[in-house]
Amino acid sequence: MTQSTVQSIEALTQTALDELDSIDDADSLEQWRVRFLGRRGELTGILRGLSQLDLEERRQVGALGNQAKSGLEEALDRRSQEISQARLAQVADLERIDVTLPGRPVATGRLHPTTQVVREITDAFVAMGFSIVEGPEVEWDHYNFEMLNIPQGHPARDMWNTLWVDYVNEEGQRPMLLRTHTSPMQARVMEQVQPPVRVVVPGKCYRYEATDATHEWHFYQVEGLAVDEGITFADLKGTLYEFARRLFGSERKVRFRCDYFPFVEPGVDMSIDCFACDGSDNSCRICRGSGWIEIMGAGMVHPQVLAGVGYDTEKYTGFAFGLGPERIAMLKYGIDDIRHFYSNDLRFLRQF
Ligand code: PHE
Repeated sequence: MTQSTVQSIEALTQTALDELDSIDDADSLEQWRVRFLGRRGELTGILRGLSQLDLEERRQVGALGNQAKSGLEEALDRRSQEISQARLAQVADLERIDVTLPGRPVATGRLHPTTQVVREITDAFVAMGFSIVEGPEVEWDHYNFEMLNIPQGHPARDMWNTLWVDYVNEEGQRPMLLRTHTSPMQARVMEQVQPPVRVVVPGKCYRYEATDATHEWHFYQVEGLAVDEGITFADLKGTLYEFARRLFGSERKVRFRCDYFPFVEPGVDMSIDCFACDGSDNSCRICRGSGWIEIMGAGMVHPQVLAGVGYDTEKYTGFAFGLGPERIAMLKYGIDDIRHFYSNDLRFLRQF
């Protein structure tokens, strides 16, 4: 009896130690403790059986059993420490900063394509000695029309479908509007300064218009005005020719045709030859097969406009022009719908 009990204690201790070696997590360790050292554990079971032995045997086997028990407890402590140290090392590993890793990309903003093109346009004129000025988007009829030789009731007012501000003055008229073009700044600038005048005016304009692929009810314009002694149509042509080549390449040709705007005389529209097909493709999407792309209206400032701001029309002449940056951006980048510019679609905006 004693012999077999001693043997089973030794065998159990060996099994327990062997199994302990292969344990490497806290859960399995606890299961191991319950199995071998718990109140209903295997070693406890053996020690309980001692009561059947006589006193001398009980003392011997009991001492061996207690020794085995404290041996296993020590082994348990040691393993438990090893496991928690390994765990700490693992966490430290995970948290260690690897300075050789590439950085995370920072999302950067960019300029709206209209802003980019407006800047390109104004840069071209600044390089030729023009200054940039800006003016109000809510404008008086006086500047938007009257001062531009478009009196009340003039049929040319139909050229600009106007959004009127809901304000009625003492005479019962609505004299305030959202500017339909940047041209009112011609009069505003000339009222402020004496020639020589050389300004470009970028800004937003509004028209009472149904939107489609080529029309928006709000859009940008860049206005230009040069007034001085002896300015001729040749200056207009030279300046706009230089501008076209800066924006669309040194190969470009320009074409001027007669057009009508009440505030210029003569009035023209300016086209460039098609940079996409050079006029050789009858089905070209950019020039629609014509070989020419219209990019702006222009002309010699009407003497009536100069007189209106008090300039001496015997002494001074000038030219003015107005162009649409969205249209230029559409041509440059092959954009087929002006509504993209205001839809705030990031898939569109991220391309520029
Ligand atoms: N303001 C005109 C328009 O909006 C364009 C223009 C400007 C024409 C200056 C001639 C001179 O249609």
